Amino acid sequence: MSKTDDNLKIAFADESQTNIEYLAYAQKAIDEGYVEVAQLFREAAGAEVVHALTHLKVMDVVKSTRENLREAAEGESLEIMSMYPKFIEEAEGEGRKEASESFRIAFEREKHHRDMFRQALKRMSA
Ligand SMILES: [Fe+2]
Ligand SMILES: [Fe+2]
Repeated sequence: MSKTDDNLKIAFADESQTNIEYLAYAQKAIDEGYVEVAQLFREAAGAEVVHALTHLKVMDVVKSTRENLREAAEGESLEIMSMYPKFIEEAEGEGRKEASESFRIAFEREKHHRDMFRQALKRMSA
């Protein structure tokens, strides 16, 4: 893996993360009555999506829909099998109730995502 491949991964993660943060900032701005500031955050959030998608295109990770379904199901599986159970356990061990609850909500939903993707894949193969 080259330096540029690594950098693409980092930039993609950063842009994706920034998108969500800006959406959350926009919501906060609305809650505080700063509608125009909310608009700035929403606009920038949209641009970050374009940046992330452009990086993703260069990274060549978007394949055929059949392959994407397989990849997505695997990713969800990984979250269900190893990531979230470990995170929930560690959060509970540290007495971080709010974090463990957040992990648990996602964990439960990922099962649904995985099954949806698997079913779509099955229908495609039928
Ligand atoms: Fe950006
Ligand atoms: Fe998911």
